[in-house]
Amino acid sequence: MEVIVKESYDEVSRLSAELIADLIRRKPRAVLGLATGSTPLGTYKELIRLHKEDGLDFSKVTTFNLDEYVGLVHEHPQSYHFFMWENLFKHLNVNAKNVHIPDGTAKDIPEFCRKYEEDIIRAGGLDLQLLGIGGNGHIAFNEPGSSLGSRTRVKTLDDRTRQDNARFFRNMNEVPRYAITMGIGTIMDARQLILLANGAGKAEAIANTCEGPITAIVPATIVQLHPKATIIVDKPASAKLTREYPAEPHVLVLA
Ligand code: PGA
Repeated sequence: MEVIVKESYDEVSRLSAELIADLIRRKPRAVLGLATGSTPLGTYKELIRLHKEDGLDFSKVTTFNLDEYVGLVHEHPQSYHFFMWENLFKHLNVNAKNVHIPDGTAKDIPEFCRKYEEDIIRAGGLDLQLLGIGGNGHIAFNEPGSSLGSRTRVKTLDDRTRQDNARFFRNMNEVPRYAITMGIGTIMDARQLILLANGAGKAEAIANTCEGPITAIVPATIVQLHPKATIIVDKPASAKLTREYPAEPHVLVLA
């Protein structure tokens, strides 16, 4: 696990986008796992810039999103379908057929979840999964106490998560209670993880994730077991770390 502390959110976003772009340049048919929330927005802006200015080509890239609220239609401004098209996909040359986002309106949700797992495997597995982290240490909607071996399924949202997300809805009653989410086992199967955090509100979750014991009560701690995980945080999110961490990824220079 590599922990990198950057001065600012912009620097976090630039490094994260550069790691994703590097994968796409090496593997044009890369399979990306993508996240929603405020954290990855800077990364998405930078990927859009790299596409528009440097010709980064997404035409063969396949994407799978982590999660989606149950019951929100795709056009709902708070749905993750809407979020992803507005903030990323419509600005890139992705093929819509290669975009996968859990369908919160599926009639048979357990069957949908089973097929989502199957689709990831059929696509060749996730090359890279981008992650944010909740203030409570969740990854995707795997709330504290989630099985560390879980697969894609429906989860009930924590009160804290619903409160954190209430700002996007007119009132608490409108905040969905359930979501479809990739499981922690699904995420851990990705060949590379990038977990981003910015702001003081994430400092405790980041300290637990990087330096605490692995526990289902802080689901993000599982990344300690991943062979290729990079955690990129800004200064405020790093405030409760007790060890020193570099500002750049480790580069192997062979003589
Ligand atoms: P945020 O959410 O990026 O909006 O802080 C992250 C998360 O809850 O996973």
